[in-house]
Amino acid sequence: MKTTNLTAILVASTSLYVAAPTAAQAEELVLYCSVQEEWCRAMSEAFERETGIEVLMTRRSSGETFAQLAAEAEQPRGDVWWGGTGDPHLQAAQEGLTEEYQSDELANLQDWAVRQAETANYRTVGIYAGGLGFGYNSDLVEENPPACWADLLDERFADDVQVANPNSSGTSYTMLATMVQLMGEEEAFEYLATLHNNISQYTQSGSAPIRAAATGETAIGIVFMHDAVAQTVQGAPIVAVAPCEGTGYEVGSMSIIAGGPNPDSARMFYDWALTPEAQEIGAANNSFQIPSNMNAATPEAAPRLEDITLIDYDFALYGSSEERTRLLERWDADIGSLSQ
Ligand code: F6P
Repeated sequence: MKTTNLTAILVASTSLYVAAPTAAQAEELVLYCSVQEEWCRAMSEAFERETGIEVLMTRRSSGETFAQLAAEAEQPRGDVWWGGTGDPHLQAAQEGLTEEYQSDELANLQDWAVRQAETANYRTVGIYAGGLGFGYNSDLVEENPPACWADLLDERFADDVQVANPNSSGTSYTMLATMVQLMGEEEAFEYLATLHNNISQYTQSGSAPIRAAATGETAIGIVFMHDAVAQTVQGAPIVAVAPCEGTGYEVGSMSIIAGGPNPDSARMFYDWALTPEAQEIGAANNSFQIPSNMNAATPEAAPRLEDITLIDYDFALYGSSEERTRLLERWDADIGSLSQ
């Protein structure tokens, strides 16, 4: 009897040991990061300190990271894609580029974060949220500041508005999908074509327009409101605006890359990144999104979703491979081509 029990215990503890690798076994993590560089670095360093696992981090915008995953599909080189807008994470899930995983922390997440996971059959999960809007430089726009999407078409802002290219940037794709949902597709593309007259530059990264507004290079940047607030908090004359017609929002997401080189490290990072402690690293590094873990403190400066008129953004549709691909092709044909 005793022997049997001991064997059972030994077997159980051996399989436990195999199932839960220690940091010594899992020494590296290749992290693809799609938030601000400062936050990417802070997350990488904190995880290294916590686990001893070396993090090899690359920062790229959301659309660019999706394209990288697709290009590396035959021989995946990344382990975790952390951050960036949810739509391309959903597309990656649909295309089998990311792996199903359910963390114990799911029970502590906001509904919108869990819905994101459910939509993707647990191949992604929500890590933060934030509303889309714009910010203007109050030194450059002293009178009649823009309050609505319609105001951005005003001729007085000719060459004084920046937004990213939706192919590379998740922010800009969120804007494209938001306009289609707010106005209907034909009107949305008419709006974007008129707006084009005021656009000085389509940037690669989603938050670049508000950094340009902060230095006075442009008057207005179309960005997530938390990125505008980040400039205000750092002392720039930037005012964040929630457009009067209503607006879309993002569920910033995280996914484990299918077939990545370090799957054990990937799961360790994933579980850790959903904890309140890890999620509070954002606010300490000038990032003011709403964290998805209900026990993580929401930064004081974070624009609250309940204060913004939000559309019922259809993540399943606009994060689908067919719709995202189709809308980006139409943007290239109807809007991108106007710059050539
Ligand atoms: O970190 C800032 C941020 O706006 C995130 O909230 C968002 O997910 C990401 O950047 C989008 O960046 P991009 O538009 O460059 O893909």
